[in-house]
Amino acid sequence: MVTVLDHPLITHKLTYMRMEETGHKDFRENLDEIASLMAYEVCRDLPLKDVHITTPMGPCDTKILGTEVILVPILRAGMGLVNGIMDLIPTAKVGFMGLYRNEETLEPVEYFAKFPKEISEGVVLVLDPMLATGGSAIAAVTKVKERGAKNIKMVCLVGAPEGVKAFTEAHPDVDLYLAALDDHLNDIGYIVPGLGDAGDRIYGTK
Ligand code: PRP
Ligand code: URA
Repeated sequence: MVTVLDHPLITHKLTYMRMEETGHKDFRENLDEIASLMAYEVCRDLPLKDVHITTPMGPCDTKILGTEVILVPILRAGMGLVNGIMDLIPTAKVGFMGLYRNEETLEPVEYFAKFPKEISEGVVLVLDPMLATGGSAIAAVTKVKERGAKNIKMVCLVGAPEGVKAFTEAHPDVDLYLAALDDHLNDIGYIVPGLGDAGDRIYGTK
C-alpha cells in the first residue's frame, strides 16, 4: 500500500523545505515537524494491549502500546526524521543503516549496519527523506528483513514515480508512506521538483 500524507500542514512545511533559499536550520526544523505529523498517521494501526489501571476516580480497563517500535534511519539523511518521530514515541529504539548512493551508477553502497535485537518482534519504521530510484530503500528493507524484521513500514518525504514502482515491486508486503509524490527523476537521478540533496541540506555540507 502506498499512502501520500498530503495533509495541508505537511504540504505547507514541505514547500518551505523545497525553497532553495531555505537554510539548514529552517530545513531541519520543518523536517522535524513533518516527521512528527507523519508519525501520527504512520502509527495509526500500531497494536495495543489491555491494561488495568486505577485513575483518581477508580479502576479502569484501558490500553497501552503493545509493541516495540524500532526506527531505522538510512544514513545520513534518514537521521533527519528521527527526532520528530521520537518526540511522539520516546520509547522507540534505533537501528542504523549506513548507505550511500554511488553517484555514477546510482547503486546503494552499504557501509554500516547495527540494529537492536527487538527488530524481529517490533514494528520497524525505515526512514529516508528521499525515494529516488528506490535502490537505497529497497536495500535497507532487504537488510532489516534478513535480520528477522516482519512488520516493516517505509517512511519517506518525497518520492519519484520510478522509486515508488521499484520499491512496491521489490517489497509488496511493506507499506510505503510519502509526504509528496513528485514528477520524475532527472538524468542524474535527482527528484524533480524535489528539494535537492537532502543530506547536504540537513547538515549544511554544500
Ligand atoms: C540520498 C537519500 C537516499 C538516497 C535516495 O542519500 O537520502 O538515501 O539518496 O536515492 P535512491 O532512491 O536513488 O537510492 P545519499 O546517497 O545522497 O547519502 P547521504 O544521505 O549520506 O547524503
Ligand atoms: N537523493 C537526494 O538527496 N535527493 C534526490 O533528489 C535524490 C536522491
